[in-house]
Amino acid sequence: MQNYESFCTFAPFFVNNCKVESNNPTNRGNFGTRLGVILASAGSAVGLGNIWRFPTEVGNNGGAAFILVYLCFVFLLAMPVMLAEFVIGRGSKANTVGAYRTLAPGKPWIVAGFMGVLGGILVLSFYSVVAGWTLHYTVQSFANRLTAGQDFGAVFQRFVSNPWKPLVYQLAFLLITHYVVSRGVERGIERFSKVMMPVLLFIIVVLMCCSLTMPGADEGLRFLLRPDFSKVTTGVVLSAMGQAFFSLSVGLGCLATYASYFKQDTPLVSSALNVCIIDSAVAILSGFIIFPAVFSVPGMSPDAGPGLVYITLPHVFNEAFAGLPVLGYVFSGMFYVLLLLAALTSTISMHEIATAFIHENYRLSRQRAAVVVTLVCIVLGAACSLSFGPWSEVKIWHRGFFDLFDFLTAKFLMPLGGILITMFVEWYLDRRFVVDQLTNGGRLRVPGLPILLFLIRWVAPIGVGIVFLNEIAN
Ligand code: PHE
Repeated sequence: MQNYESFCTFAPFFVNNCKVESNNPTNRGNFGTRLGVILASAGSAVGLGNIWRFPTEVGNNGGAAFILVYLCFVFLLAMPVMLAEFVIGRGSKANTVGAYRTLAPGKPWIVAGFMGVLGGILVLSFYSVVAGWTLHYTVQSFANRLTAGQDFGAVFQRFVSNPWKPLVYQLAFLLITHYVVSRGVERGIERFSKVMMPVLLFIIVVLMCCSLTMPGADEGLRFLLRPDFSKVTTGVVLSAMGQAFFSLSVGLGCLATYASYFKQDTPLVSSALNVCIIDSAVAILSGFIIFPAVFSVPGMSPDAGPGLVYITLPHVFNEAFAGLPVLGYVFSGMFYVLLLLAALTSTISMHEIATAFIHENYRLSRQRAAVVVTLVCIVLGAACSLSFGPWSEVKIWHRGFFDLFDFLTAKFLMPLGGILITMFVEWYLDRRFVVDQLTNGGRLRVPGLPILLFLIRWVAPIGVGIVFLNEIAN
């Protein structure tokens, strides 16, 4: 095993038994503190995926049984991929493409890096559409326009199909993301995450307490806590894995990019474990906010699909607090702010994948690189947004732009990326290098290290491969 000092410099280091010189800029940003590392990575993971997509999936796939399957995938498949990304990122100190160029010069692995950059741009393009809707609902909520007596389904439909309104909100959201990313790693991403994540966790706890005290909340709790395994079909298993990958932001090199800003003494394994625990907790707590509230209003159904948050919930806020509308106003405002903050900490990480690549690869300043990424996402994002309105007839492979980008990333680029990333780490990289990274040059004792390596080597690529092939066959 290398001694810690030479491990710290990383140049030269050993990869697959050959000496490699790192030619990456030495003045890259760094996360200043360990808390910053965890909050920024958890910020990437915690997003619309937890608060919007997770309850939707739980609602559609039968509640508690889905959650159990989901948790297995988080810790057995997604966490190993996250660790592999951390090894690649911190081991190379480069953006996703540069990482493969440094660790495997001249080898085709670099394709995985380019897939990540493409995936990051595609995710940001469709994700910012929903983030824009959330911004609109936040504004509406504070302006007290989500009042009782409306057909919220029609209101939602009218808004998303409007030719320009959703575009304006989406643009505003992308510009906020742009602002944070162009401020840099420590002054932008880290500082922002350190403020926003605690606020987000605080709002979750307040909302959950409110929700749990609603009349009829126990039915929602039963739905969340009592597993009915007869509901677990192949489809449920596939959805749970897709959800685990999406929710933990793995497979696109997003966390590899963040890990390239980790310091040499950042403990990779415990950081990954913390991120997985925070992300799963937020997802489940979001269920504790949404389902007791939904079940407290007669006639509301938990499987309303993606409209749950924009159609069912405004109705629930009004009905549940009919006697005290002020409380409904506060509850709904806080809920949409929560969604907004969660979305923002995630879009920043998606933006960073491509910004870091352009900044380092084409030697553009970080600010200029961020401008390029934002402009591309504005154009592609507009296409996604318009696919709910004027462009609803434009189809590629039978899908509108929004659905196409969602499909390409969640069903294709993320799982394929996950397979390539884990195979690269366990089959291509030198075992000593990987162990050095995971143990910080032998300084950290990592209980269960052989199990982790086994998960990265066999379980993750094979498990994801099976699910991926199943998806393709369908
Ligand atoms: N994990 C984020 C969420 O749950 C989404 C995301 C996907 C973020 C891919 C970065 C990269 O909303």
